[in-house]
Amino acid sequence: MSSAPLRILGLSGEYRSTSKSGMMVNLALSHAQSLGADIFYWDCYEKPLPFVGEDGCWENPNVEEFQELATSCDAIFACSPEYHGTMSGVMKNTFDWLYDKHIGGKSVGLMCTLGGMQNSNTLNHMRIMLRWLHARPVPEQLAVGHVKEAFAADGSLNDAAMAERLESLVASVLDSATMLRNHQSERHE
Ligand SMILES: Cc1cc2nc3c(=O)[nH]c(=O)nc-3n(C[C@H](O)[C@H](O)[C@H](O)COP(=O)(O)O)c2cc1C
Repeated sequence: MSSAPLRILGLSGEYRSTSKSGMMVNLALSHAQSLGADIFYWDCYEKPLPFVGEDGCWENPNVEEFQELATSCDAIFACSPEYHGTMSGVMKNTFDWLYDKHIGGKSVGLMCTLGGMQNSNTLNHMRIMLRWLHARPVPEQLAVGHVKEAFAADGSLNDAAMAERLESLVASVLDSATMLRNHQSERHE
């Protein structure tokens, strides 16, 4: 059994880390860090991933770096803005660069942000997508509706119940990642 800190990757379906989805991912990551995890945020603004299929995409050095980072991590937090009832193109394209060999069997915590009322469409679509990657989203999830009003000036969540749900989501991802890692190492003993 490994006692090394879990490595957790944060992915946002928006380019800026200051976007609401970027803020949600970073809240989840900093909570995971306070519980002892090593955290990594893939910043699509600093290191954009090309569209899968566009000219030169297969040779883009960001792609290899991203895939290596994902492979080295034990679990993922992903937050997408809801665009027209589903995840953003940035979120989908980010996952289109990953395969079973990078994130199969890994625990995932799902979140989404919405300009309008909270609903689960984007989360459900992300859950379905992850099935094809053989990843393991935990049952807990977070949809932050009316997101413009969701954050206080210091970047924390205004709604205490939502903040508690975020903590439960993070705890669940870390628990599940630890169990999956132990299970893998027992199988290889
Ligand atoms: C193209 C587009 C489509 C959108 N569609 C929806 C939608 O279907 N439902 C909704 O509640 N908000 C919708 N919004 C609002 C976004 O969900 C909201 O701006 C986003 O969650 C804010 O997070 P961000 O800062 O990470 O982009 C849409 C915004 C854009 C730009």
